[in-house]
Amino acid sequence: MEPTPLAWFRGEFVPASEAKVGVMTHALHYGTACFEGIRCNWNEEEEKLLIFRPLEHYQRLVNGAKVLRMELPLSPEELVDLTVDLVERTGYRQDMYIRPLAFKSAERVANLKLHELDDGLTIIAVPFGQYIDVQVARCVTASWRRIDETMMPPRVKLSATYVNSILAKTDAVLSGFDEAVLLNYDGKVAEGSGENLFVVKDGELVTPPLTANILPGITRTCIMQIAREELGIDTVERPIGRAELYLADEVFLTGTAAHVTPMGELDHRPIADGHIGPITKALQEIYFKAIRGQLPKYRHWCVEAVPAPLAKV
Ligand SMILES: Cc1ncc(COP(=O)(O)O)c(C=O)c1O
Repeated sequence: MEPTPLAWFRGEFVPASEAKVGVMTHALHYGTACFEGIRCNWNEEEEKLLIFRPLEHYQRLVNGAKVLRMELPLSPEELVDLTVDLVERTGYRQDMYIRPLAFKSAERVANLKLHELDDGLTIIAVPFGQYIDVQVARCVTASWRRIDETMMPPRVKLSATYVNSILAKTDAVLSGFDEAVLLNYDGKVAEGSGENLFVVKDGELVTPPLTANILPGITRTCIMQIAREELGIDTVERPIGRAELYLADEVFLTGTAAHVTPMGELDHRPIADGHIGPITKALQEIYFKAIRGQLPKYRHWCVEAVPAPLAKV
């Protein structure tokens, strides 16, 4: 049996290509859904798949569901177990991306009342590689501002709010850059289109606070812990001005998809010498080992899965 992208859909495991919804589905029209992005990393030595911090991702999914007045049919712990089962069944022995999606499945249009609409939940597992395909990212400040909490909540991953990220990312890439930096409604630095942002200046590590309309990133939390415990650097959470990035010693982006990606340039201005800086490099090295389960201290961040032997390639 060939490995194949799989979905858990309507209570069953099916090939992802067979998990389909109708054109009337509410979430398709209005973005009434919330989702997660979880990495599952292949550890060749141990021949295991390591799912990175799935419980924290499912807890964030629950928060998104709450905003949308949805009740998930399973607890975060049960969802972790289900995810282990799903990735094992795919048969892949390579890095994967797991995409849980809770959505308003009611096939009703012209109804804007969340409480009247049925919910659905699916989890998809597909092979995945690098997200930002360069060693050092060339970035541009987006003309789109990061959504403000007074408009839609930025601290949960609502599908509708991703149009904001997608507009910024698309403009950046079509203009020849790798990633966009979004300012928030107050004009302060918020984050990348799909990453949190850190600045290093004079040995200090700074990142915008959660009140800056950022997503509370799971990688962000990991990096703050690694910086504190491995490098002895406490992260300062405070508003950051745009020009601080131009004048920084190092800037880097963090996210499940982007890992720890150094920013080499912003708005046609090199950041320091335009290469990865020492603190970014140290954090990146530790993080890469942690997500592959190679550091005993952080091994509890990984949940193990063993691919089905039948599907071995
Ligand atoms: C807008 C945004 N900010 C930050 C992040 C980083 O979050 P995490 O580290 O949990 O992947 C993501 C990724 O999901 C994102 O989409």
